Amino acid sequence: MQLQARPRPIPAGFIDALKARFGERFSAAQSVREHHGRDESAYPAVLPDGVVYAQSTEDVAWVARHCHQHRVPLIAYGTGSSLEGHILAVQGGICLDLSGMNQIVAVNPEDLTVTVQAGVTRKQLNTEIRDTGLFFPIDPGADASLGGMTATRASGTNAVRYGTMRENVMNLKVVLADGRIIHTANRARKSSAGYDLTRLFVGSEGTLGIITEITVRLYPQPEAISAAVCNFPTMHAAVQSVIEIIQMGVPVARVEFMDLAGVKAINAYSKLDLHESPLLLFEFHGSPNGVREQAQTVQEITAGNGGMAFEWAEHPEDRSRLWAARHNAYFAGLHTRPGSRSNTTDVCVPISRLADCVSETAAELEQASFPYIIVGHVGDGNFHVQMMLDPNNPAEWDESERINHNIVARAIAMDGTCTGEHGVGLHKMDFMLAEHGRDALDLMQSVKQAFDPNNILNPGKVIPPA
Ligand code: LAC
Ligand code: ZN
Repeated sequence: MQLQARPRPIPAGFIDALKARFGERFSAAQSVREHHGRDESAYPAVLPDGVVYAQSTEDVAWVARHCHQHRVPLIAYGTGSSLEGHILAVQGGICLDLSGMNQIVAVNPEDLTVTVQAGVTRKQLNTEIRDTGLFFPIDPGADASLGGMTATRASGTNAVRYGTMRENVMNLKVVLADGRIIHTANRARKSSAGYDLTRLFVGSEGTLGIITEITVRLYPQPEAISAAVCNFPTMHAAVQSVIEIIQMGVPVARVEFMDLAGVKAINAYSKLDLHESPLLLFEFHGSPNGVREQAQTVQEITAGNGGMAFEWAEHPEDRSRLWAARHNAYFAGLHTRPGSRSNTTDVCVPISRLADCVSETAAELEQASFPYIIVGHVGDGNFHVQMMLDPNNPAEWDESERINHNIVARAIAMDGTCTGEHGVGLHKMDFMLAEHGRDALDLMQSVKQAFDPNNILNPGKVIPPA
């Protein structure tokens, strides 16, 4: 959990220039820097030298130009909900807080698109577009900003049906390292015009440019929605059911797994009374008939694996409570051990290997000396082991890291990835070589060099030193 911070020197006059340009919207106060120097991971805070509260793309461009000229690190900040140390100022520099850029720029219901500033959060967006009859499906647990979600290529519980940020971002406005402003595409549903810059910025974690506006796809609110809980005698039976559901091509909107400890944690934290055994949470979207058919097929598959009868969440309020409880799983986990910080794994494997990956992981975890829960966006082959650690006990951190290494090695051996949705940040850099190989990493480094020749954008993240 210890970090080697190597702050770069800030040239004389640099901070004064920021103060002169931004006034109250610049702060070097200790508490502000502490707040911006950490995320939800177990890492201790590593503070930036100062924080700028941006209100426009022009603000961002001004800061980028100055940081580029003086080789000062620049870290974009949305809501601080990342889980792998993404925003820690390991080389010092300026944190650019984009949360004040929270305007919806344009809603185009007839094209099913919306353009937002980077600080708009996913819940804010859905509240503001409710009257259009459309919704934005991507839902990481936290109420993250669209800028941060784009930068980390986020997903969540709906990705099995609607895709991740990769499939749903259409166009970006981006401030380049030297302050130039570009857009990466347009609002056409498809394009064959050249290199796909949009997809290069999606998942670049603030290392290639600062995203200030995002155009995303929207979807009609489904005519019919139904949600149900299905309990299983074993974890394996639950996961095996998911594999069969996906292989059959049932277009489930959500299918989420929780192990026994996860169910208990969520019951306690969100005051639910879910039956306490491994379970799957389902949601079906479509026409009333379509939803009935999907549920019928899924019930046959779960029953064939020893699943119990579905418990339906009949009313919209029941559904909302259920999904709110799932979105709060991370906090429910932390709550099982007051004062703990979490090491959260995030592997994703091809669906046919999911049952093996989860079972082997669960067998290894039985020996763990700390509490943990397993939850998963299993329809995507993605799951998390959340390990609740005593932040004052380095032995627990080391043990959790050994387990994390084994889980990642297992996933990569199954042709999977070290991170399905949380991203690389600091914590997954160690696995990038095993996952991508030297030549691919060198190519990534060349891309970084082309986009950010002075290495100011979130330096020390994503690509491990060669
Ligand atoms: C979740 C977050 C941790 O699935 O990704 O709850
Ligand atoms: Zn997740």
